[in-house]
Amino acid sequence: MEGSREAPTQKAAHSGEVLSLVHAMKVPPGLGTGPGNRGNPPYEEIRHYFFDMGNDSLMAFFEIPEGEEPQSNRNAIGGMQHVSFVVTPERFDEIEKRLDERGIDHTPRIPQLPGLLGIYFYDPNGIRLEMACQPEDGDAPVVIDCVLQTKAQARAELETLDVDEAWIESMVAALPDG
Ligand SMILES: [Fe+2]
Repeated sequence: MEGSREAPTQKAAHSGEVLSLVHAMKVPPGLGTGPGNRGNPPYEEIRHYFFDMGNDSLMAFFEIPEGEEPQSNRNAIGGMQHVSFVVTPERFDEIEKRLDERGIDHTPRIPQLPGLLGIYFYDPNGIRLEMACQPEDGDAPVVIDCVLQTKAQARAELETLDVDEAWIESMVAALPDG
């Protein structure tokens, strides 16, 4: 997946050929290089994409500015931005308590998107982990529905790219009209 030096948009396009886009947006201003950074890549207003991986799970890409970060080595230890696990509110509380009891450093509960909270910490290999929780979903969190955009919402973001209309149409084809 990360084995080439193609521009981020081309990588997203390749992902969109096999996985469906569910969400495209820029990180809000002030969260990249400012004090509001919550562990996201340290660049202002970079775009990210969420793709449906099946089984109600997502794969995300951040558009890191070309050449600003080293190419990931697939055999490197901890070579990813973070991996997130969506858990029930009860498990979320329990994990936070376990981290505290073991003295493992973690972030406070960070509101990510409407309806979604996350806490972040590092595993022994330096992999950044996130436990995420959708409190209103109770014991049956539904991940895709929490982030699913309408065609118009995704289109508004994709139209800020230097791409042709046919590509945009193919990327939003599976999204709800809403
Ligand atoms: Fe996350």
